[in-house]
Amino acid sequence: MLTPYHQSNYFTLFNADSLTLIDQLEDNSIDVVFADPPYFLSSGRKMDIAGRNVHFEKGAWDRSRSTEEIDQFNNKWIKAVRSKMKENGTIWISGTFHNIFSVERILVENGFKIINLVSWQKSNPRDIVDGQHLTFSTEILVWARKSLHGKHCYNHELMVQLNGGKPLTDVWKIPTPGSWERTCGYHPTQKPLRLLYRIILSSTNEGDLILDPFAGSCTTGIAANLLGRNFIGIDQSKDFLDFGIRRKQEIESPEIREKIIKKMSENPEEVTVIINHCRKGLMEKMVETGICYLRAGDSKGSLCITPGFERLSYVLLHTNGENCKLFKLKSKGKFNIWTKETLEEYGFEPSHAPYYIVLHFDNSKPIPFKQLPNLKESVNTYIAKIKPLSDFMGIK
Ligand SMILES: C[S@@+](CC[C@H](N)C(=O)[O-])C[C@H]1O[C@@H](n2cnc3c(N)ncnc32)[C@H](O)[C@@H]1O
Repeated sequence: MLTPYHQSNYFTLFNADSLTLIDQLEDNSIDVVFADPPYFLSSGRKMDIAGRNVHFEKGAWDRSRSTEEIDQFNNKWIKAVRSKMKENGTIWISGTFHNIFSVERILVENGFKIINLVSWQKSNPRDIVDGQHLTFSTEILVWARKSLHGKHCYNHELMVQLNGGKPLTDVWKIPTPGSWERTCGYHPTQKPLRLLYRIILSSTNEGDLILDPFAGSCTTGIAANLLGRNFIGIDQSKDFLDFGIRRKQEIESPEIREKIIKKMSENPEEVTVIINHCRKGLMEKMVETGICYLRAGDSKGSLCITPGFERLSYVLLHTNGENCKLFKLKSKGKFNIWTKETLEEYGFEPSHAPYYIVLHFDNSKPIPFKQLPNLKESVNTYIAKIKPLSDFMGIK
């Protein structure tokens, strides 16, 4: 009988060497594996990054090894994990050039079917100024299925919705972890919750069991827990697991839980929706013409452009929170400034300002959506209220 290091609702941790512990888990029980194994890139070298001499040393567990040793390590844990996965289960493994070619080859040798290689493009990489390298700004994720044939879980519709109506590509632009997810401790290679949010939403369903054999600070477990999935994590370091336990305790507070879910689901790259509250007759006129307008300035005359405008792809029109209609803009992030007189030529009767922000939308087909965010605070016609599209798509 295995004794967990920690167990709280649907969140189980083992403090052990994965190379031995994985064998003791139940066969065919895991829906999805996410593994962020050692990349074996710590060389102890120093490199000039953004004007600072940075030591390339993550810890003894990450020290460079020979190609044969890296292959041996990967083969051992990948083979072990395979027998624990359900037949339609999938595995995500992250890496850089140091380990990822070994990972890919060993997956294939062990009978996995590669589904995709995803490039995680860091939107805020640290510049390298040693004059010898391009700035390192990506990591690779290999996504593979246990069986060569058959179907695996991919929540295509949901990912299309979250991606502004377009199929999600294999390049994911996501920032490195922010201060909001580093409140409980330090891990040198902590992954962003936003990355795990996307992996988990795309390839699992509520109630699924996710295994992370190199759990570290338990980013996978935190994202899994927040999204209603079960989690088993393994790490050989108690210090890292304790960090993970503190993170888990942190999300037991309903306020913090809600705040982190919101942050995690707000991809700074995600398309946004502008909310426009308008009188009934005006709304009908907007739908008829495909023109939505907002007063361009505040009472002091400043232009009201808020962060998120550049990613604007949809407009939501409503009257006092009712009769809501969502439309796609004709061009993402593009708006015109029109005078009152120009709007009048299109049959409107603007009366509050000399200039207006004008957005053109496709009035031929309203976009279906699942849920309405609270619109009460956005009843002011004149302030651009911008929300991420995920607020409308029913993601808990
Ligand atoms: C790249 S880090 C994972 C970081 C994690 N994704 C996060 O967001 O915090 C790899 C982790 O694997 C652990 N590790 C390395 N070799 C291990 C082994 N043989 N068994 C269990 N854990 C191991 C290290 O302690 C380290 O925390």
